[in-house]
Amino acid sequence: MRGRMLGLALALTAGTTAGADELREAAGYLFAPLPSTIPAVRDNRITPAKIELGKALFFDPRLSASGVFSCSSCHNLATGGDDNLETSIGHGWQKGPRNTPTVLNAVLNEAQFWDGRAEDLKAQVKVPMTPGAQMSNTPENVVNTLNSMPRYVEWFGVAFPDDAEPVSFNNMAKALEAFEATLITPAPFDAWLNGDDEALSDEAKAGLTLFIERGCASCHRGVNVGGHGYYPFGLVENPGTELLPADDKGRFAVTSTEIDEYFFRAAPLRNVAVTAPYFHSGKVWDLKVAVEVMAGAQLGEELTGDEADRIVAFLQSLTGAMPPVIIPVLPSETSSTPRPATVRPAE
Ligand code: HEC
Ligand code: HEC
Repeated sequence: MRGRMLGLALALTAGTTAGADELREAAGYLFAPLPSTIPAVRDNRITPAKIELGKALFFDPRLSASGVFSCSSCHNLATGGDDNLETSIGHGWQKGPRNTPTVLNAVLNEAQFWDGRAEDLKAQVKVPMTPGAQMSNTPENVVNTLNSMPRYVEWFGVAFPDDAEPVSFNNMAKALEAFEATLITPAPFDAWLNGDDEALSDEAKAGLTLFIERGCASCHRGVNVGGHGYYPFGLVENPGTELLPADDKGRFAVTSTEIDEYFFRAAPLRNVAVTAPYFHSGKVWDLKVAVEVMAGAQLGEELTGDEADRIVAFLQSLTGAMPPVIIPVLPSETSSTPRPATVRPAE
């Protein structure tokens, strides 16, 4: 395989069509274009009513105890589905331990979070609403809040017509998952995988060749160019405690198995060019530097400046088109809506 890849790299530099076809064939084994329809998810039939409800919930800060934080506060769809902060700022101005990943295409990740501790989006969305977490709420208070607003009660009834109690924490999670499943962003790379030769620049194609040849694709593969599989951050060389703080042992916290210490999910790389800063610690702001760190830490390789630029050009071809999202008008609160809890920043 490696020999063939090398051959294809040479053919590519010569700019032959055969090289382009071979590269597409090799890429076809490793990656996949985004689906053209909304992907199906486990135990949750996606319907237009669920999507609309989920969109309202996504933008609703009243799901947080303080009334300040919505999903959109940290996963801002106007800025790549993340918050562009080193690590997130949540309830009571607390600084979270990890960088916020994008929600874009997250439905296609094998599991959610840097350590994969939530098996799907339904499981994931409940986490920020637990006491002390980003939105620091309780399931009871969330359900009371939703039940206090007749429009929400009506919308849950339409979205979950077969349920005796449509307004529930579980159904809230399902509606949010349905909305998130629509956040799919087809990129130039998809157009190219689907046969459009012009969709990638020569530099991006050369970057893709390096990405495959040097072994980046052995971890970052599949439809999200990552998002599945767990590997040590620092497989070959430790990237240092600034990038890999000693107290976050990654997947170890999920499995309690020593062998999983400092293992993290291979990051999904779609839209990576618009989701700086990088790594779970959020310490690297420049994509080129992140690529160089990866080459050293994961592969023990040093890239030339030109090689890193080419890989960056390939990664830029993963920046996709946002689906149009019209900001919803939310149900208005009533006299029985729980009041926001007053919280002060920690001194
Ligand atoms: C205060 C900021 C904040 C808020 C509010 C927040 N998140 Fe997150 N989100 C994060 C952080 C930080 C992580 C990564 C945590 C980790 O890996 O341990 C994350 C992870 C995720 C992931 C996993 C993505 C992946 O690639 O693994 C999804 C999906 C997600 N959040 C959706 C939501 C939804 C939906 C809401 C609203 C219910 C929400 N988040 C509220 C900060 C936030
Ligand atoms: C052995 C598996 C492995 C290899 C090989 C690998 N990576 Fe990674 N990559 C990871 C893991 C795991 C992470 C998450 C690191 C963390 O915990 O922050 C990651 C993170 C990244 C990030 C940061 C993404 C973000 O959203 O913060 C980029 C960019 C990246 N890799 C690019 C590359 C490139 C380019 C190559 C080849 C030079 C490469 N990777 C090789 C496993 C790998």
